[in-house]
Amino acid sequence: MSFLGIEGHDRADLEVILDLADEFTEVLNRPIPRVPALQGKTVAHVFYESSTRTRLSFERAAKALSADVMNFAPGGSSVSKGESLKDTVLTLKAMGPDLMVVRHGSAGAPTRVAAWTGLPVVNAGDGAHQHPTQAMLDSLTIRRRFGKLDNLRIGIVGDIRHSRVARSNVAAFTTLGADVVLVAPRTLLPVDSREWPVTLSESLDEVIGDLDVVYLLRIQAERGGASVFPSLPEYVSRFGLTNRRFAAMNPEAVVMHPGPMNRGIEIADSVADDERALVLDQVANGVAARMAVLFWLLGGERSG
Ligand code: CP
Repeated sequence: MSFLGIEGHDRADLEVILDLADEFTEVLNRPIPRVPALQGKTVAHVFYESSTRTRLSFERAAKALSADVMNFAPGGSSVSKGESLKDTVLTLKAMGPDLMVVRHGSAGAPTRVAAWTGLPVVNAGDGAHQHPTQAMLDSLTIRRRFGKLDNLRIGIVGDIRHSRVARSNVAAFTTLGADVVLVAPRTLLPVDSREWPVTLSESLDEVIGDLDVVYLLRIQAERGGASVFPSLPEYVSRFGLTNRRFAAMNPEAVVMHPGPMNRGIEIADSVADDERALVLDQVANGVAARMAVLFWLLGGERSG
């Protein structure tokens, strides 16, 4: 089995992963934060796009489960000599990994890798398509804060059109019972967003006081996100979480962001550093969430 997206997984699947992540959080808080759950297994990290949080937390997660790791990045590899994705992953497979974690700029690449190799594959972000482990660590962060997602009102704000995080989070949050509102200029919404299980708003000021979670996205300039509105100051004035808008939030509400943040654009500098901004909790929870996903896919025969 692979974990390629949130779609196709029901609430029970997601809750199994979240419950495992709670158990692995306890492991990570021990003096020796390691268990032998995946001893003898090897996880290959295959990252064709840059990453700080996802790559390093997958590595930390695999090692905390006592798995061995292989790390591949195209820089310095034979990709520069023209080797294809298919030949690259078949070459890595010949070295004996049990699972591949794949990030790639093209939607669907992890699915192709799973088909070519026959190995379990975890999608670590593919184009603007899916980022399912981000959705799991975000759901874990919200559940740990509020106890549940049911009936919470979560606003996802910004460049939704180019965001794999938004696609995975909408699916996970609504499956777990939350109400999601997408807040963005029309040009930054996907063309099919009216078919998503969400409500839409073009005014952050109108919804900000009703939200339990304000989930901010950066403008994905590398995917063309900056070319569809007049200017950054105009974007900030309408959709940035400024100090004024932060003050208008419910006092119990929290701010989240998948990172990397663009301070002064989607989030004011002082808001990013406020204790109600859970950005670093998200990063910390990413290790336990990824341990849970790796164990869920590879540890079955041991846990059974
Ligand atoms: N949130 C996220 O995917 O961050 P990285 O690109 O640093 O992995």
